Amino acid sequence: MRTSVLAIACAISVAGCTPALVDPVAVSQAPANARSAEDARIADLLSRMSVERKVAQLIQPQINSFTAADMERYRFGSYLNGGNGGPYGDEFAPASEWLRLADEMYDASVKPMTNGEPVIPTMWGTDAVHGHTNIIGATIFPHNIGLGATHDPDVVRRIGAATAVEIEVTGIDWNFSPTVAVAQDDRWGRTYESYSEDPQLVARMGAALIEGLQGDPASGDFLGAGHVIATAKHFFGDGGTENGIDQGDVNGDIEALKAVHAVPYPAAIDAGVEAVMASFNSINGRKMHGNKELLTGLLRGEMGFDGLVVGDWNGHGQIEGCTVSDCPQAILAGLDVYMVPDDWKPLLENLVAQVNDGTIPMARLDEAVGRVLRAKMRAGLLGDHAARPSDRPNAGDMRLLGSPEHRAVAREAVAKSQVILKNSGVLPLKPNARILVAGSGADSVAQAAGGWTLTWQGGRELTSEYFPGATSIYAGIASEAAATGGEARLSADGSFTGEAPDVAVVVFGEEPYAEFSGDRKTLAFTDEEGLDILLRLKAQGIPTVAVFLSGRPMWVNRELNAADAFVASWLPGSEGQGVSDVLFGKREATGRLSFSWPKDCAGGPLAGTDRVLFPLGYGLSLGERSTLTQLDETCAFLSGDAGAQWYADGRLASGITASAGGVELANLRGTAAGVSARGVDRNRQEDAREITFAPGSSLTIAQEGEGSGDYVIAYTITRRPSAPVTVTVGDTTLDITAQLEHSELKGWREMVLTEQCLPGLGNALTIASQGPLTLGIASVARQDIPEGTACSF
Ligand code: BGC
Ligand code: BGC
Repeated sequence: MRTSVLAIACAISVAGCTPALVDPVAVSQAPANARSAEDARIADLLSRMSVERKVAQLIQPQINSFTAADMERYRFGSYLNGGNGGPYGDEFAPASEWLRLADEMYDASVKPMTNGEPVIPTMWGTDAVHGHTNIIGATIFPHNIGLGATHDPDVVRRIGAATAVEIEVTGIDWNFSPTVAVAQDDRWGRTYESYSEDPQLVARMGAALIEGLQGDPASGDFLGAGHVIATAKHFFGDGGTENGIDQGDVNGDIEALKAVHAVPYPAAIDAGVEAVMASFNSINGRKMHGNKELLTGLLRGEMGFDGLVVGDWNGHGQIEGCTVSDCPQAILAGLDVYMVPDDWKPLLENLVAQVNDGTIPMARLDEAVGRVLRAKMRAGLLGDHAARPSDRPNAGDMRLLGSPEHRAVAREAVAKSQVILKNSGVLPLKPNARILVAGSGADSVAQAAGGWTLTWQGGRELTSEYFPGATSIYAGIASEAAATGGEARLSADGSFTGEAPDVAVVVFGEEPYAEFSGDRKTLAFTDEEGLDILLRLKAQGIPTVAVFLSGRPMWVNRELNAADAFVASWLPGSEGQGVSDVLFGKREATGRLSFSWPKDCAGGPLAGTDRVLFPLGYGLSLGERSTLTQLDETCAFLSGDAGAQWYADGRLASGITASAGGVELANLRGTAAGVSARGVDRNRQEDAREITFAPGSSLTIAQEGEGSGDYVIAYTITRRPSAPVTVTVGDTTLDITAQLEHSELKGWREMVLTEQCLPGLGNALTIASQGPLTLGIASVARQDIPEGTACSF
């Protein structure tokens, strides 16, 4: 709360000043004074802190790897929940549990210090990237790509404000949002987190979200009630990696790169953003977390940013010469806060030693800690007005989570984000129409919400019970149809009995994903579920509207040819009525592309090329008609692209299922019949699984339909099995106990299963253990290995 900065300074440190005389309006109009009062306060606090307490301000662990006792002992400056983390180990915990944990950690952080050191409350950061969507019942706003298509900063500002209030309900202080990436190659898995391929549009939208989250920096309302700290991320170049590879390399002339990817930052800084997150990518061969020229020279020097720089998830560990737990290079380059989810303890100890031996100058440490303290002062965490999370404005007021007002903002944004790419006249839907609503996405809020929804990856296994208060696209259509005297019927596969419908709406698209799991080699949309339904209905003479759910523009020429109207719906979230508002013409269709739409399926940057089917800015109003001429349906990548990779990079390929005791383990996670699988890191976040078998349990991974090839499995054994373990493929069962014993503690290894030990192979692979067993799996693939190759472990 900027208004109380001086009052806080007086109350805590500056002897002899009288807080009562401070005029809050005068403070907000005199930032220079406020700033020097902050400086004085910071200097005083620093003078009373030990090196260990200072370093702890820079350490940000995640909630499931420390306890309240650790918080009391170390006094971390901040902490986070990962996309798969929830309070007390439950990622689906109710909002009240999130608030309870916030209180518990806050209380631990403010226990009096025995040695007279100042007490500095901790703060909690979260990824509320499209609403406070780690929380059941929160409003789920469209992902940024949809917001870009609204071209409406005002609605984005209101989304920021609504999100901040919902965050406050749970006692959380800090949001790792907005992503201001300027995505250039839509094969990147985070394209949907980008507002646009156009840097200016990203800059406007990012600034608007920041103002909504934090409040207007020129007003007394800044970071006050209803506001939280925002983070512009990821600095910089995240949207410019070669081939759209997440966390990859950005290459080129630095001025040219800045002219695209750095553009949103000055706008974010003007909007008052208090935090910037460093990016995983490298620029011209150097990882951003260790790039002093850019992290300090560009961001601080050229751009004048005075807030804090937070690292990304173990991002410092990717700097050359660093490990996750040992990395003075990052702070020396300009990083202030280390996001170090699990290895916080050795990192903290190493940093303390590196300050003590002079590797890290005290002045640099003080500067970094000062930035954290400044953010806390501005957010009202220090001083007179500081309060326990549950005693703060909006905290615990559960009616605000997914409130009708917030949902109305979301619905408006959804409607404004729908982009009509084709319409031969079937839209708007007529009153009284009998409408068939088809496609497995039609009634799935999870699919409409995409990644970063309840779990990191999101996913269709999140059924409607996980989304109380939400309206699926089907439900939105059904209520509008009923209101206009018509009716809607839901039929996922598009079949119907009795009288033919007047029109069909077919909802289909990408399955949810996040970060690198969403990276693709091409832009071909290969899932033919929607196409099949469209073609079948067309053959029956039923007019169709395709509603395409996706995190990026994709090559959908076949679907565009098959449908009478085609709507790019992006990832709209929990308010499906926003979609029906446009389909029925309750609202004009004002959404316009914020990305170029591809003409071919290859991928690669499109802006300014002749490979564009619909340019940025394209979109039809409801009164406009277009009948595209038949589009080219050839694409070299329609089949075989996925290869026979069954499981890799944290994802089961489509058509592959994992199960135990007949119960499906969606995306190879969860617990069933004595088998428990959780995400662990091999090379990247949760790209592997740790699978624990209770005695007598077994795990089956299988492919629907026909497959071929030998099996290649990347695995690790940390403790030798104590009872027999077998693998069964087709009709053959092989005892692999001795081989696994031999693999103990040898790190990641490759298991190659060929005809030689499993004659006939087959489309299902079962691992069974008679005793307790823990097995790491990083990938499972089927590939053709030269005939006669022996099995190996
Ligand atoms: C992502 C960030 C996110 C962080 C914390 C990282 O993997 O790149 O965008 O804020 O995790 O969840
Ligand atoms: C995500 C986290 C997620 C984690 C998984 C990070 O990149 O941002 O939120 O839980 O990876 O390990």
